[in-house]
Amino acid sequence: MKTFIGLLFMLLSFGQSLAQSASPDSIIHQFLTNNCRWAATKQHEDSLYFDHLVEGQHPVALLIGCSDSRVSPAVVLGADLGNVFVHRNIANVVSHSDLNFLSVMQYAVEVLKVDHIIVYGHYGCGGIKAAIEDETLGLIDNWLANIKDVMHMHHKDMEGITDEHERLNRLVEINVLNQIENLEETSVYRQAMRNGRNIRLHGWVYDFSTGKIKVLTPESGLGPREHCDFESLGKGDKH
Ligand code: CO
Repeated sequence: MKTFIGLLFMLLSFGQSLAQSASPDSIIHQFLTNNCRWAATKQHEDSLYFDHLVEGQHPVALLIGCSDSRVSPAVVLGADLGNVFVHRNIANVVSHSDLNFLSVMQYAVEVLKVDHIIVYGHYGCGGIKAAIEDETLGLIDNWLANIKDVMHMHHKDMEGITDEHERLNRLVEINVLNQIENLEETSVYRQAMRNGRNIRLHGWVYDFSTGKIKVLTPESGLGPREHCDFESLGKGDKH
């Protein structure tokens, strides 16, 4: 038995070190293998799973997030396919001149009839960092001008913060709230509200150092609040 456990441990350690030292090429191959396994498992668990997806989508929310590879909303939210309509760009910007975003929003609101729109930022955002540090990165500088505008508009909110890390995180939060204001100014949102729709806007910030989302509450002076209470999990949601 001891030998068996030892062997098992060795195999597991080998698997782990293989994963750590895997080349990008082998990881790409692994993605395809994972996909085959996932499709087979889903089909096995629910033989109509894919048939339901073919019938159409009824997402409950539009989510605007950052393109960062560490914040994938479906993974973080435990969302199933069909739950969330997603638009992602660098630093989760809502730009009134971005035809791509505006088309996504119009489709989500007018065709899919989502009642919730979430701006989903994240601490440690490289886009926000580049803007705050005034880095020159090429084409992306034009996009990050959106963030610089936010920074200049809210310079008073950041004045007193000397710690670099805290300044960055504060701007992440301010940016999310500012993008919500931009959402409110879109013709799609205004028209929908004029037509009697009740679209709720949410500002969330994901922290990949803890895996948790903080909910921003503009009415309490930009302060984020924890919504996770791990001790209460299983005893109902404590929002
Ligand atoms: Co980011």
